[in-house]
Amino acid sequence: MNYRHAYHAGNFADVLKHVVLSLALVHLAKKEAPFRVIDTHAGIGLYDLEGEEAAKTGEWRGGIGRLIGPDAEPLPPAAAALLAPYLRAVESFNPEGGLRRYPGSPCLALSLMRAADRLVANELHPADAATLRRTLVSDRRAKVLELDGWLALKAQLPPKERRGLILVDPPFEEAGELDRIVTGLANARRRFDGGVYLLWYPIKDMRPVTRFHQAMAAVARADSLVVELMIRSPVDSDRLNGCGLVVMNPPYTLEADLGVLLPILSARLADGSGGSGRVARIG
Ligand SMILES: C[S@@+](CC[C@H](N)C(=O)[O-])C[C@H]1O[C@@H](n2cnc3c(N)ncnc32)[C@H](O)[C@@H]1O
Repeated sequence: MNYRHAYHAGNFADVLKHVVLSLALVHLAKKEAPFRVIDTHAGIGLYDLEGEEAAKTGEWRGGIGRLIGPDAEPLPPAAAALLAPYLRAVESFNPEGGLRRYPGSPCLALSLMRAADRLVANELHPADAATLRRTLVSDRRAKVLELDGWLALKAQLPPKERRGLILVDPPFEEAGELDRIVTGLANARRRFDGGVYLLWYPIKDMRPVTRFHQAMAAVARADSLVVELMIRSPVDSDRLNGCGLVVMNPPYTLEADLGVLLPILSARLADGSGGSGRVARIG
């Protein structure tokens, strides 16, 4: 396990993932009944954008740095309203203003959860799990487990609340992670078909992604969405050219909301020309 998210925190891929996560959580919180968030690959929770790792790549400057801070232009009103929960949550970790800290998925989720909602954050890297535990120690809604996320996807479903969001965000440092997502969802559905599943994947070369879509279409519900953001055309397949999420049981407003947001996000986050975004049914 060599992957360290601190090098990538707040980049364009985090922005897409966390925007979708925040839209889904806002929707879940509209109903009074409590829900549970299961984060299978949680990371350390809070990232120092001036720390050695983030400073080394500077990736956040092409991500969250284009939405908040001195280099960010104002957003059109409809997009600003949809992004407000996400951007307000990020700002709440920077009370002195500016952009020094970036919340990872566990911290972002807790910012948008209510008192009775619960978070289980799984992180297998021992040092990262310890850091995450320290970060969340004072929040009684959160439990941190040093557990294999793929195992969590079996063991922690269904949640006892019977309402839940499951974020699957593996590091993609081993071959076969796209296949593990397909199998993971197929197994998870048998335990908890009604959950909102957010399954993240990288886009370097389109060929494996097309095969992944076909495999997912066979295991996900037909109304699942594919959400993708390209920051450049995938000409060089060694680079992270874009990323996507499959969203199973999407909130009914998500497709339309992303229809508003993706043109703006892809224009903002593009690396030169060739940025694009799309949201579509999986089938
Ligand atoms: C992409 S990062 C997670 C980022 C986080 N979800 C966020 O949005 O802020 C993936 C994380 O998974 C951890 N990891 C790697 N293999 C794992 C496994 N089998 N189970 C759980 N965590 C794992 C890595 O240490 C890393 O922190």
